[in-house]
Amino acid sequence: IHEPRTTIPKMLKGIYVECRAMMLRTWQVIRGYPETEKQLKELEELEHRGGVDFWKGPSSVGEPFDVMLSPQESTHVTAFLQRRAIPYEITMEDVGALIRTKSLQRVAPSSSSTTFSYNAYYKTSVLHAKLRDLGNRYRNVSEIVNLGYSIYRKEILGLAIATDSQASKMAIFIDGGIHGREFIAPATTIFLAEQLLSRQSDPTVKALLDNFNWYFVPLVNPDGYDHCHDNFRLWRKNLSKRSGLLSILCKGVDLNRNFNFSWGGRGSSKTPCDETYAGPSPFSEPESRAIGHFLLSKKPNVLAYITVHSYGQYFIFPWGHNGSKPANHDDLQRLGEIYVSAVQNQSGYIYRTGNAATTLYPASGTSEDWAKAEAGAKYAYTLELRDTGKYGFLLPASEIMPVGQENWAGLMAFATELTRRH
Ligand code: ARG
Ligand code: ZN
Repeated sequence: IHEPRTTIPKMLKGIYVECRAMMLRTWQVIRGYPETEKQLKELEELEHRGGVDFWKGPSSVGEPFDVMLSPQESTHVTAFLQRRAIPYEITMEDVGALIRTKSLQRVAPSSSSTTFSYNAYYKTSVLHAKLRDLGNRYRNVSEIVNLGYSIYRKEILGLAIATDSQASKMAIFIDGGIHGREFIAPATTIFLAEQLLSRQSDPTVKALLDNFNWYFVPLVNPDGYDHCHDNFRLWRKNLSKRSGLLSILCKGVDLNRNFNFSWGGRGSSKTPCDETYAGPSPFSEPESRAIGHFLLSKKPNVLAYITVHSYGQYFIFPWGHNGSKPANHDDLQRLGEIYVSAVQNQSGYIYRTGNAATTLYPASGTSEDWAKAEAGAKYAYTLELRDTGKYGFLLPASEIMPVGQENWAGLMAFATELTRRH
């Protein structure tokens, strides 16, 4: 016999891989356009009923929503939309095929920092090796900090950048990767840190380094992120498991609903199976707690907080839970405009700025609102990177560099403007 013997576990694995591929084959994303307040209400009910994954939730009349549908769901949700005369189109014919097109995603398996490039998406171990590498290479101005551990005991690492030991300097804090599937976010956060460090001879950059302490935490949710690499590409939440029937069936908390400000309010869910599950209590999760503790330890010096997500191309600010205006609304708006016009000058890509709840949708227990309300970050923003829906969370790795460059331009313009205001 020349054939290697096929063992039963091997066979089962083969069948499993085949089944999964088959099941993914016809998952679709559709984009709908609510035209009346009544339709909007009905869509929000559909969202709250749970069971379907809104990549981008319904927000207002005329503002499209994106929803991913399994073959089974597809039939009943499209019927739902047709019955209510809500216009829609298919924007992604075959989600699974896109995931399997490895040339687009360029997910690299290797685990050393020497192979790191901005042309592929890497797992946590490689991103952390890269971050340590930066800390080493620029050890005169930076150091690695450990903010805490994930549910599966993975480190949550940051890079602290300070040109002198003046602890009283105001700080700019940037994090990414709160949501696992948003691969472009950690890559971009590291890109920005590397730009800042490698361009110290540029007088503008030098001034910004002298004016502020900088903190970069590229990967807040390493468990969710690696779960996307290894098991399910579209995982959003962390991987916490709790007792209780639903929590056993459905794992994970949405870390961006778990912060202790307006916790459990609009745009968050009490149901463990939902993508926006806020958790059993505020700061129940080690990952959100790690960010919270760290920011509080820097209070009252946290001037700006930017949390990097994807997708949609937004640079939006509090209050995101109810759309009301903070005292410095006009200032937030002006700085937002400075960021997005610098982006547009750099690449031509249009990002929108404005209040998070009205520009995107209301969400409660977010890090952006918490940073402003509780950590004293006068300038708190959520940055939603490219694209506007063509690939969504499956943005090709070839876009890491252009996305990095346009946001570097935005960040420099933004931070330069900030120096005039404190
Ligand atoms: N994509 C982010 C989320 O859903 C956006 C949160 C921004 N804040 C807001 N209030 N919309 O968690
Ligand atoms: Zn996100």
